Amino acid sequence: MMNHAQIGLIGLAVMGENLVMNMESKGFTVAVYNRSPERTEQFVNGRAKGKRIIGCQSVQELADALERPRKIMLMIRAGQAVDDMIEQLTPCLDPGDVIIDGGNSYFKDTMRRAEELEQKGFLYLGTGVSGGEDGALNGPCLMPGGCAQAWELVEPIFTAISAKVDGNVPCCAWIGGNGAGHFVKMIHNGIEYGDMQLICEAYHLMRDGLGMSSAEMHEIFKQWNTTELDSYLMEITRDIMGFQEQNGEVVVEKILDVAGQKGTGKWTCKAALDEGIPLTLISEAVSARCIAAMKTERIEASAAYGKKCRTIREEKGSFVEKIRKALYASKIISYAQGYSLMRAAADDYGWELDYGNIALIWRGGCIIRSVFLEKIKDAYERNPQLLNLILDPYFKEEISFSIDAWRNVVVAAVESGIPLPAMSAALSWFDSYTCESLPANLLQAQRDYFGAHTYERIDRPRGEIFHTNWTGHSGSTSSANYTV
Ligand code: 6PG
Repeated sequence: MMNHAQIGLIGLAVMGENLVMNMESKGFTVAVYNRSPERTEQFVNGRAKGKRIIGCQSVQELADALERPRKIMLMIRAGQAVDDMIEQLTPCLDPGDVIIDGGNSYFKDTMRRAEELEQKGFLYLGTGVSGGEDGALNGPCLMPGGCAQAWELVEPIFTAISAKVDGNVPCCAWIGGNGAGHFVKMIHNGIEYGDMQLICEAYHLMRDGLGMSSAEMHEIFKQWNTTELDSYLMEITRDIMGFQEQNGEVVVEKILDVAGQKGTGKWTCKAALDEGIPLTLISEAVSARCIAAMKTERIEASAAYGKKCRTIREEKGSFVEKIRKALYASKIISYAQGYSLMRAAADDYGWELDYGNIALIWRGGCIIRSVFLEKIKDAYERNPQLLNLILDPYFKEEISFSIDAWRNVVVAAVESGIPLPAMSAALSWFDSYTCESLPANLLQAQRDYFGAHTYERIDRPRGEIFHTNWTGHSGSTSSANYTV
């Protein structure tokens, strides 16, 4: 077989197939392989018929079909399957060839794989791919990280297939060293969880607190999508609210309230705990999916307490506007937390992340794409060292403008019994972050009392540590003073 395909792709599920079609439409010849040969046959004789797409029946055949150095993209399920495929593939490759993992791999797996492969002379790129099936076909957001040399080799293909914003700016940029691409994709997914949960909480307030119909909410989401909240997720929510079956039934009203998740939100929370960064909104969004999955228990608990939500006694129009502001302010907090986590991880792993550029490439192609990201890009352009997004003048003004409504919404929800885990967690984070004096003096006293863990004093320089003999019989020896 002629070795003329510019790229190979393994894994012909919906994302893989669509990426191949996208690559081909940009003029590239693509060799494809799938574990079950029938899938390859079906694709090559179906959508791929007559196109520059070469179906291969083995990884060796795929390797033979590619120009050198080879570039092979894996679009397979994250986890063991990726390790297995790499093991199968590498004997067919030569040093200098590039392997790209485009799945939602855990960033530490990517770091390990890159190290192992680079020792053998291969180049590895962990690449976040966002945008679902439509994005894969018409332009995804691509977040490559790993070997810089490999990036140079795939850049023309990735740039060509990615989504574009502002005319022709590609939603694809080099993210950073080993693991950075999948890390940033993981943060994207965490933020996706947060954005979705916030919209769901707004829906819950309108549906159960204000008694609004799906048709009314369709109009509200449509209107919100013309404001600062203009985003892909708002757009699809608007459409979902208005989507009826042939018999006139609104589909969303018929869907069981049991949430699924594939794990990237959970990884984001774990990474936050590892870095010591409060990621409260996304953590609540993950927990909200977990509690939603406990349908049977919820039915029992609801009956046990005879739980009924109380109507929110506020004028509908003005309260809906307050919900919008609460959603917007909470969203700012979610991104502030996510960006703090990226900063901490970048320091930890030695990545030089360009925060403004990450906001820019997220503006198109991906699930969290929104006009709001433009403001984040501006904030990091104003100050690349920005400590926290909420300290940027623009966001400070936006939060100040929304704060009263945000508090009002949280209070009303608490009184009516409607859970607002993400919006209220965001408000608590804001109140903690902007609180000069927290009650941690007492916490330190408690730690010192029972475990001689020591404390610092407000009337002495930072770093000087003290221990008090609280009981009179515990002596003056303190325990090792360290913070994880
Ligand atoms: C994307 C999405 C995608 C994600 C799915 C499912 O950027 O295209 O983030 O990668 O895996 O949306 O995620 P959950 O099953 O965890 O909701």
